[in-house]
Amino acid sequence: MADAEPPAVAALSLAETATAPVPRAHEQEINPWDVQAATDEQGNVLEFDYEAISAKWNTTLITPALLERFERVTGHKPHRWLRRGLFFSHRDLERCLDIYERGEPFLLYTGRGPSSDSMHIGHTIPFEFTKWMQDVFDVPLVIMLTDDEKFLFKEKLKQVEVYQFARDNAKDIISIGFDVRKTFIYIDSEFFTSGYNRHFSLNSTEFEKLITNNQVRGAFGFDGSTNIGSNAFAAKQCVAAFASSYPFIFGLDHTTYNRSKPLSKMQCLIPCAIDQDPYFRLVRDNCSRMAHPHPKPALLHSKFLTSLQGAGGKMSASNPNSAIYMSDTPNQIKKKINNHAFSGGQETLELHRELGGNPDIDVAFQYLSYFEDDDEKLARFAEEYRKGVMLTGDMKKECVDIMTAYVKGFQEKRKAVTDEDLLQFTTPRKLEWKGNPNPVKKEGG
Ligand code: TRP
Repeated sequence: MADAEPPAVAALSLAETATAPVPRAHEQEINPWDVQAATDEQGNVLEFDYEAISAKWNTTLITPALLERFERVTGHKPHRWLRRGLFFSHRDLERCLDIYERGEPFLLYTGRGPSSDSMHIGHTIPFEFTKWMQDVFDVPLVIMLTDDEKFLFKEKLKQVEVYQFARDNAKDIISIGFDVRKTFIYIDSEFFTSGYNRHFSLNSTEFEKLITNNQVRGAFGFDGSTNIGSNAFAAKQCVAAFASSYPFIFGLDHTTYNRSKPLSKMQCLIPCAIDQDPYFRLVRDNCSRMAHPHPKPALLHSKFLTSLQGAGGKMSASNPNSAIYMSDTPNQIKKKINNHAFSGGQETLELHRELGGNPDIDVAFQYLSYFEDDDEKLARFAEEYRKGVMLTGDMKKECVDIMTAYVKGFQEKRKAVTDEDLLQFTTPRKLEWKGNPNPVKKEGG
């Protein structure tokens, strides 16, 4: 996910308060390094328009029909984040369902740019979701921690700092509960110097040759003053989606010069926030041009989690009151939600009882919708809030309870993660998975 505190934004808002220029409306900006909601003529921050970004980038919105097929093929009720549209868009998800139906595996791939040691709930969502996907499909998973990316793109960060962030973040990710037998987590600076990366490097050099400066400039807004590492990094995040980059996962020799041709045919599925799509458009547009053509990776896109301040805001690693951190104490969580969560309730108790509240803009309700799995309970909260029966304080209490339980559960698991666990997950090795237990038989087979 794009780093949560794009420095340009902070600089902009400071400058605005200092010189107080007449605010001007601007459109939303979504790219891997900068995510900002639109503002209106008065400078008010608007909600993200996800349908607009999907239309602009030509992604496919997830429909009820697709979710029905998902349930039919996998035998699992779609995760609440699919049911409720937090994961709202995709590319070629059907193809993964076809493959699973036939009893063949695909590779799951996701990642994180480790730019700080404090992960917040917005950071854990893609991993929670990826774990659920892995449980449902029983397929191998790679998780890429791009310490090289953050070093290249963040002026101030030192190499050793981002490496340490990557190690801490990897432990956080392990705490989500991934199965070590099916999961390879790698930190770029370690893996790319390990010797196991031979096929990854060959893929990346080959891919680099396919992409011109003009293409990355178009995709990412680079210019002549962008460092050359940033240009090249794009290829790494792209070829990380090729199963052929990780022969050892499949029990194949990583020391040979030639890459495995059968592996180049393996499908990949990438759950990620929508801001990462530009990377993966690049790989989708060019993967068929590899000497061993690779299929286009499929994608599953999420929205951004609402910050405590409300829709359009972003959770930030540099503003503690914008987000619930995975390191927060129960008391901090309670204070943050009570004092900082934007309320869709009315100004006074009397007005609230009379007019009712608006759950759609109520941050406590939004967070409940991320974490409360019970659809009926959630619908009841919304209804009672609208009627003015449920008060802002009631909604916040429900939210505090569920968030406290989530963070506490995480912290308990995090405490148990050792350096030894980290070493196991990050060691290149053959993975084991079972896939679809009841594949549809091939005709005549
Ligand atoms: N570029 C991503 C970030 O800054 C990290 C990343 C690498 C990633 N590979 C990915 C994210 C695949 C999602 C999916 O956070």
